[in-house]
Amino acid sequence: MMNEPSSPSSVMARYAVFGNPIAHSRSPAIHARFAELTGQTLTYERVLAPLDGFAVAIDDFIAAGGRGANVTLPFKIEACVASTRLTARAAAAGAVNTLSFEDGEIIGDNTDGIGLVTDLLANAGVELRGRRILLLGAGGAAQGVILPLLQTAPATLVIANRSASKAVALAHRFAANGPIHACAFDALGTTAFDVVINATAASLAGEVPAVASELYDEETFAYDMMYGATPTAFMRLAAQRGARVRDGLGMLVEQAAEAFQVWRGVRPPTDVVLAELRASL
Ligand code: ATR
Repeated sequence: MMNEPSSPSSVMARYAVFGNPIAHSRSPAIHARFAELTGQTLTYERVLAPLDGFAVAIDDFIAAGGRGANVTLPFKIEACVASTRLTARAAAAGAVNTLSFEDGEIIGDNTDGIGLVTDLLANAGVELRGRRILLLGAGGAAQGVILPLLQTAPATLVIANRSASKAVALAHRFAANGPIHACAFDALGTTAFDVVINATAASLAGEVPAVASELYDEETFAYDMMYGATPTAFMRLAAQRGARVRDGLGMLVEQAAEAFQVWRGVRPPTDVVLAELRASL
């Protein structure tokens, strides 16, 4: 007698994170823990996609039974192009970090922005509504979080960038979504902001965006989207000025939780996973 073909439900659901480089991605550990905590059965692997071969790598993964994927640097824009359908938040971000493969479609989503906002509101207890928020940077990382930040109804969202023209372009693009303004670093003045978010790549080089240190004071909450075993230079400077500070590890866990919910329909607990990840840095 021939073996029955295995039913779809008996096949382990397969997910992966695509990037280049990818060896240091913490996403497999985070999703494995989410699966454990929610009783879901799945696999989650790392895929090093060639710099010129992202779309092919995704097609291969789909052909091999992949159900969904996260996408990290440098492929978030390419993932947007590869998607056959975009969620509203991915279309607004112009970048995709979460893909779902369903019925021949590649659905592109973006959970980075909601990940940041959830970490600020729920984990750090920071008020955003009615506040003056400064977003430093105008690259992909900044672009992805603008709409969710505006949706928290801040008094104002100022985008400042080393190359001011990129900030101006972003402010134009999101002008209809809320009180957004663009500025050059040296035109920010010296009045402290309630919340300052560093979305530049400066921390990677151990640098701090060249803005006046008066922009942070004891009332400021300073958030760096980067994270590491020790505080970034941006966090150290803001802390010296009396600001409360936080790195981007919570954003990483929250964007993953949102992706997990998109794929599995279940919300994983994030506090325990964030604490474990912090201890492992
Ligand atoms: P990402 O997708 O991670 O945002 P990106 O598109 O290369 O990466 O953008 C990097 C951002 O960090 C930009 O806003 C960049 O400023 P410029 O547009 O002026 O290049 C910013 N950036 C990088 N290094 C910086 C530094 N040392 N000081 C301030 N801003 C920096």
